Amino acid sequence: MDVGRVWLYRTASAVVLVTAVGIAPSGEAMAQDVHAAEVAAAASAPTYYGAVKGVLDRNCVDCHRENPASVGGMVAPFALTAYENARRRAGSIARAVRTDYMPPWDADIQHKGLFKNERYLSDEEKQILVDWAAAGAPKGDPSEAPAVVSSPNVVAVEPTVAPDGSVWMMGMPDMVVGFDKPINVCSEVEDWQPQVPQHVIWGNITEPKWIRATEISAGPIVHHTVSSILGVGTPGRGPFVFPKGWGILFLPDTYMSISMHYHKKAGPGTETVDDTRGGIQFYQDGDTINYVVETELQPYTDFTIPAGDPNYAVHNVTHFDEDVYLLSMGPHAHYRGKAVRIELKRPDRPFRETLLWVPHYDFNWQFQYELKEPYLIPAGSSMYITWWYDNSADNPYNPDPTANVTYGPATTDEMMNARIYFARTKPLGLVAGGEIPPELIARASAADARARRAAQQWEAGSESCGKDVASR
Ligand code: HEC
Repeated sequence: MDVGRVWLYRTASAVVLVTAVGIAPSGEAMAQDVHAAEVAAAASAPTYYGAVKGVLDRNCVDCHRENPASVGGMVAPFALTAYENARRRAGSIARAVRTDYMPPWDADIQHKGLFKNERYLSDEEKQILVDWAAAGAPKGDPSEAPAVVSSPNVVAVEPTVAPDGSVWMMGMPDMVVGFDKPINVCSEVEDWQPQVPQHVIWGNITEPKWIRATEISAGPIVHHTVSSILGVGTPGRGPFVFPKGWGILFLPDTYMSISMHYHKKAGPGTETVDDTRGGIQFYQDGDTINYVVETELQPYTDFTIPAGDPNYAVHNVTHFDEDVYLLSMGPHAHYRGKAVRIELKRPDRPFRETLLWVPHYDFNWQFQYELKEPYLIPAGSSMYITWWYDNSADNPYNPDPTANVTYGPATTDEMMNARIYFARTKPLGLVAGGEIPPELIARASAADARARRAAQQWEAGSESCGKDVASR
């Protein structure tokens, strides 16, 4: 496998910073330009069927679609699939794209092309939506409508309904996990992040298995979820499928726990229940397993963010003493998290390369940044993680700018995590259903014990509905 080299080339080009130098035109020239631009815009304001529909189809409708609750992933609040529903929201669409609130994606533009689940809107596409709203959302001519081009993220398959009624885009799961009983999300809740244990609902196993794909099936008030086994669930997220021959070793009785983020309007009558489930597909007996996928939270706990500090940095470093392939990165902090950078220092290079730069971290969106190609981290490398926090009153999400903040499970505490998925590079040539080397079992058990200890500590803080709750 030669994936490392492809990546290196990409990374090298991704760290080059290109600075556009704008030369300000003279006042008179500028006035003429603006006038010319206005004339051009008035003559050719984009119409829904002419240009807007294509932009929405490619970038928005895999989340903003009809009957969102009926498909497997989590969902956006309204559809943008037809002229009428887009026209009514033209103003908020323009605002959402101008402020980069939509489509949701936090990685810097320098990473364009690197992550398989990326969502970037080009400047031209943004301008089309803004100009369309400014022109009063004209309809245009339906016969001009482009053929529907869906986003590359869309999973174009019919959902499968499992025996327990859960709905899946990945096809029938072999195992479904869920809560002991549905969770009551009380009327006071606007945002709530409990850490909840999950158990096998059906498809229990008695022998170790290899996970090939997972998916989260959640209701409409679920904003996102984070689970070490199931991965990260965000709106529009389909199944989480490992490359062929790559899998997580799943032992019987593995401890499972999921961090939920419920988001809804608060107030009388809004109380509801949630019954989020996770689906797992295993490799079939006889399939080859070459790479054992492991996950590491890389937590760092020894910090205090001073009250009022607008830009406090915390550093952590992980050393690699074996070659590994990196599959994905999922940084996690709470409301004071402001930005995060993950860098790699290889033993054969004098500089650190940037693997991930998130200049405006948004706690509401938890992304697992999945590399298109696994990335080789050579033995002797160090991964440097830097988080910046805004603990000032200028941070509108800050629950208390007068508090000195330390690591902890409640959303009013902070975290400094950077979950990675990775695999050691030596192809193992194992066969699913066959012998599993004892050291792999031991490593999976150790990871299970760590996850159990960490999650149980957070679950303890999760019980009340709506306040002082844990997250991860
Ligand atoms: C990954 C899924 C996803 C994609 C892709 C997406 N949205 Fe959204 N959108 C959401 C969710 C979920 C919300 C609800 C916001 C929240 O709860 O924070 C939302 C909210 C909105 C809102 C309301 C914002 C407000 O002011 O409350 C607008 C407008 C919007 N989206 C437009 C768009 C447009 C236009 C695109 C494409 C350019 C797009 N969205 C792409 C998931 C998505």
